[in-house]
Amino acid sequence: MRFENIDFNKLYMEQKEASTFKMKSKEAWDIKADSMNKKVHKSIYNEQFLKLLNLEKIDTLLDVGCGVGNLSLKLASKLSKVYSLDYSSRMLELLNESAKKENIKNIKTINKSWYDSWDDIPMVDLVIASRSMEVQNMKEALDKLNEKANKKVVISYKVGGSFVSEDILEVLQKNIIKKPDYIYVLNILYSMGINASVNFVQSEGRGTIYSSKEKFIESVSWSIGSLRDDEIKKLENYYDNLDENEESSQSYVDSLNLSDPALKQFVDTRITDFDKIEDKINTLLPLLKKAKTETMDYYKISPDFQIKYGTDLAVDYLDDLITLFKDKK
Ligand SMILES: C[S@@+](CC[C@H](N)C(=O)[O-])C[C@H]1O[C@@H](n2cnc3c(N)ncnc32)[C@H](O)[C@@H]1O
Repeated sequence: MRFENIDFNKLYMEQKEASTFKMKSKEAWDIKADSMNKKVHKSIYNEQFLKLLNLEKIDTLLDVGCGVGNLSLKLASKLSKVYSLDYSSRMLELLNESAKKENIKNIKTINKSWYDSWDDIPMVDLVIASRSMEVQNMKEALDKLNEKANKKVVISYKVGGSFVSEDILEVLQKNIIKKPDYIYVLNILYSMGINASVNFVQSEGRGTIYSSKEKFIESVSWSIGSLRDDEIKKLENYYDNLDENEESSQSYVDSLNLSDPALKQFVDTRITDFDKIEDKINTLLPLLKKAKTETMDYYKISPDFQIKYGTDLAVDYLDDLITLFKDKK
């Protein structure tokens, strides 16, 4: 079989249809909107997504599936016009409230779905769809984004095909059918003649997601549907044994009631940096395993004096880090 003959969009659609992760109604997103508004404006994900956006010669934006506007609001000050589209009216209400509070006047919200006609939406320089491409027909959706963009389209899509982590699935002993992974999207773009560039960005840390046991269970059931009593029990036990269900940094900083915004920002950075460090260590561990295997394979085949990875340097850096975090008074 030749690669060119594979219909990746057909494969995408079949797996999307079969997947355990069902698409949500706009009413379900309406209900989710207020809690999203509390936590999504500040995240590693926003920072990383925005850092990768090159806004050179970009003046206008369409943000599809904009949610409460965590990206739209941040981009508005850099652009002349932002169109923020979402089919959840509550998301857009909250976005408009935030814009008003921040005195942002160049955002126009559009209450439409992926499946409505976008004929009356103007062309823009940049179209983004961030974490909002849970669509039945990926090619159709990509075409729709492309049609509105004068210069560029930037999308983000989950890696791994599951909204629930492997350890939680193991606790539940549930067989799930994953949704199509990001590689389908890349292949569909390739078949459309689009050579996309790909970057990997991190999403929110665990601390911000599981702020209480109830919220944790709610979030699992949001992803995989209603849970049986025994499944809820298993999740409760799992949650009780987690050592990372500390207070989120946001609620911690809020609880200090600091009136000086600069001080608030300073303290917040001091605390959230620990989560960033933890995320980086988690990224490092699988890389370390891979490098070790590669090194062992290398010496098996051709033992010589070559250094595959600069481990001496890494050991020195890690020693410095251990000293840094030891016994700070
Ligand atoms: C996970 S949120 C992403 C929000 C934001 N873009 C971000 O990256 O944080 C997904 C958003 O897509 C919206 N959405 C889901 N299905 C949609 C559809 N069929 N049409 C329009 N918006 C949709 C939801 O209402 C929600 O606001």
